[in-house]
Amino acid sequence: MIDAATRLYCLFGNPARHSKGPVIHNAAFKDKDINAVYLAFEVQDAAGAAQAVRTLDIKGASVTIPFKESIMEHIDWIDPTARAIGAVNTIVNENGVLKGYNTDCQAAVAPLVPFGISGKTVCIVGAGGAARAVAHGIEAQNGDIIITNRTEQKGRALAETVNARFIPAEEMENIQADVIINTTSIGMTPKENEISFPPEALRSEMVVMDVVYTPLRTRLLEAAEQKGCTTIDGLSMFIAQAAAQFELWTGIIPDTDLMRNTIIND
Ligand code: ATR
Repeated sequence: MIDAATRLYCLFGNPARHSKGPVIHNAAFKDKDINAVYLAFEVQDAAGAAQAVRTLDIKGASVTIPFKESIMEHIDWIDPTARAIGAVNTIVNENGVLKGYNTDCQAAVAPLVPFGISGKTVCIVGAGGAARAVAHGIEAQNGDIIITNRTEQKGRALAETVNARFIPAEEMENIQADVIINTTSIGMTPKENEISFPPEALRSEMVVMDVVYTPLRTRLLEAAEQKGCTTIDGLSMFIAQAAAQFELWTGIIPDTDLMRNTIIND
């Protein structure tokens, strides 16, 4: 029941109304019997979002596109990993001190851990904010990283920061890797017919992961399944980053199966 003691958590983004964050966090609060509510706010600027956290004593927030970078200058402390990535997706309000973290990084790696990353060649498609988080997560697990990206300059810049090789997008079909991760928005509704990696370059031994989760089965994952690859859908990373946020806010590990089922049945 919502009452005067209910604690507020929220999402800041623009757009924000499509987010599945409220559905899973509220389900987890209920499941763990925590008197809290999570709401999505479509805001215009990062400064206003940080001010809202302070004014309303919001206990924690998710930060999404396009504020993951701009929020950094408006909070009080930034975790070293988030600083290295250059993006904050989580705010924890510790008695008025706003602390910033990046849970995308560990979330990208979590679904891959069972396959072992150390020493494996991991090809990251894209060089934006999501790619940076994924690349740092893979680097921390000692993966051998290849970056490929439409805009060469951006791809090379990211490759330098994580000690990776850069391969131009035109040469993607020659990429030899154990793991392929799409971090771009290619394949996302309403452009679900687009594919982020050439299907002819997929081999059955590969693990193929997509960060896109609308649709859940992207063209890339469909093609990978047809080739006999192991596939990991975008919900895996989305839920892992949300679960890590929930733990930072409450100290409690949420039920990730409940989170996944809540989204699938939403
Ligand atoms: P995010 O923070 O969500 O990662 P971003 O910083 O805008 O978003 O990065 C988007 C990534 O997807 C970039 O690597 C972008 O390629 P460019 O660097 O060339 O812009 C890539 N991307 C998005 N749409 C694409 C498309 N239609 N074709 C190829 N790459 C695309």
